[in-house]
Amino acid sequence: MTQYQTVADSDTVLRDGTIKLHGPEAFAGMRRAGRLAAETLDALAPLVQPGVSTRALDDVVRQMTLDGGAIPATLGYRGYTHSCCISINHVVCHGIPSEKTLKDGDIVNIDVTPLLDGWHGDSSRMYLVGDVGLKARRLVEVTYECLMIGVRQARPGARLGDIGAAIQRHAEANRYGVVREFCGHGVGRLFHDAPEVVHAGHAGTGPLLKPGMFFTIEPMINLGKAPVRMLDDGWTAVTRDRSLSAQFEHSIGITETGCEIFTESPLGLHKPPY
Ligand code: MF3
Ligand code: CO
Ligand code: CO
Repeated sequence: MTQYQTVADSDTVLRDGTIKLHGPEAFAGMRRAGRLAAETLDALAPLVQPGVSTRALDDVVRQMTLDGGAIPATLGYRGYTHSCCISINHVVCHGIPSEKTLKDGDIVNIDVTPLLDGWHGDSSRMYLVGDVGLKARRLVEVTYECLMIGVRQARPGARLGDIGAAIQRHAEANRYGVVREFCGHGVGRLFHDAPEVVHAGHAGTGPLLKPGMFFTIEPMINLGKAPVRMLDDGWTAVTRDRSLSAQFEHSIGITETGCEIFTESPLGLHKPPY
């Protein structure tokens, strides 16, 4: 049975499996954290170029996050030691920044999570490096559509399964694979909280969406088949068939009438080309 818990701003929240329902102060907190995430992703747009190392991009994320009065939630998270995740081409998610440099034709996801005044703003976007082929650009475009089709389902009275069902339908209509091993999640005071937001499934199933719920939608869509494989570093997930993979992520809050996107780009840089 799904349990909901109305939390006041001063309450300590636990990872106890309950879905938290938040008030106006929490919305204000998530708005600030989400805005910093979006501004950071905006600032990266001109820097994602052939020859730049993913470590240099991680340095920019760390500096912008700190300058914004936040700390990167990934720093020290379960032993992760970087300020963001950078996932190139067939890397599905949780790519670790390194000395590796981007090259012409790559598609890249950068996923940031500033922790600002106790609130987590979790968001990612795709970037195109130089000249990217048509198939890859189409994958990126359709993956953005998948995110926004999911967001459009998010309103009071809908069920969580409506989101995954809509995403899966659009991805599979384009003959892409929807990753099952990773999902969206409740977000707020906690980085990863209940509920699990799956990106495939059945409409009309799962928890009821209620005003005050905060969660991410972050579909990972593969040009080939859905299954993923973990690399030996324990973090990097890649497509089993080595096909390209794309992802976009927003943090949202359910309102009385629909939802608020906390991580919308202030510069309108929602999707490439930027
Ligand atoms: N930002 C990722 C998410 O969307 C989580 C990254 S955790 C890390 O949920 F440790 F891999 F950085
Ligand atoms: Co997330
Ligand atoms: Co994220």
